[in-house]
Amino acid sequence: MAPRETRATIERVRRILPDLHRLELGVEEGIARLKPGQLLLARLSDEGWDPYLAERWIPVALSGRTVTIERAAGNHYAPGQIVSLLGPVGAPFPMRHNLRNLLLLALDTPPTPLILLASLAVHSKIEVTMVLSGQAAQYPLDALPEEIEVLTGSLEEGWPNQVTTVGWADQVVSVANPQYRHLLYPALLAKIHELRADVPRRYVLGLFDLPMPCGTGACQGCSVSCKGSRDHLTCVDGPALDLEEVNFG
Ligand code: FES
Repeated sequence: MAPRETRATIERVRRILPDLHRLELGVEEGIARLKPGQLLLARLSDEGWDPYLAERWIPVALSGRTVTIERAAGNHYAPGQIVSLLGPVGAPFPMRHNLRNLLLLALDTPPTPLILLASLAVHSKIEVTMVLSGQAAQYPLDALPEEIEVLTGSLEEGWPNQVTTVGWADQVVSVANPQYRHLLYPALLAKIHELRADVPRRYVLGLFDLPMPCGTGACQGCSVSCKGSRDHLTCVDGPALDLEEVNFG
């Protein structure tokens, strides 16, 4: 479904950490059918291009016509506020078929973009293990789906049962602190290759949460350098990309 402009109402605001809010939005039906990986570009103001760069709003739960998103505190959000939305933006996570075990990693950043995927996966009887490293370990466990296994650790030091969790995983999906992404993703790839003989296509996905000036593939502003014939636009091909295809050099 192509992204389109719509309006939504903030129905509830809940603080889950001093610097993290969850907002429940009343949305139109098309927006409520977001898939894990897709996001919304939001403007709180109804004043056209204010702010110029829309905020990237990441859904963490869907229920009927309500989409719950998670935002770092900073802006003032209040019930009744009207929001201009563009969405759904991006492609759903390119998941492999016949998943039974899924390994999710939040590398020194909150696991927000992985939560909807984790919820829907456990609903589909997929075993989910989530590894929280660095500042991700501060994330409140009661804000994660209770059916998933949560471990803490790091790429350097490892995590409990690291060999087993990687060996059993049918796919790995990760999000990394944007400041260190260029280091963390290659380190993750190296670790997976160290622990597995077979790393098929689309096995290790990484999220690229870049600013999105247009959200429709028109401006090339969210391009990621890739090894193949063309670079990828995170607003069209992403935000999750196969890390084997990304050019980190
Ligand atoms: S945000 Fe414009 S091409 Fe992706």
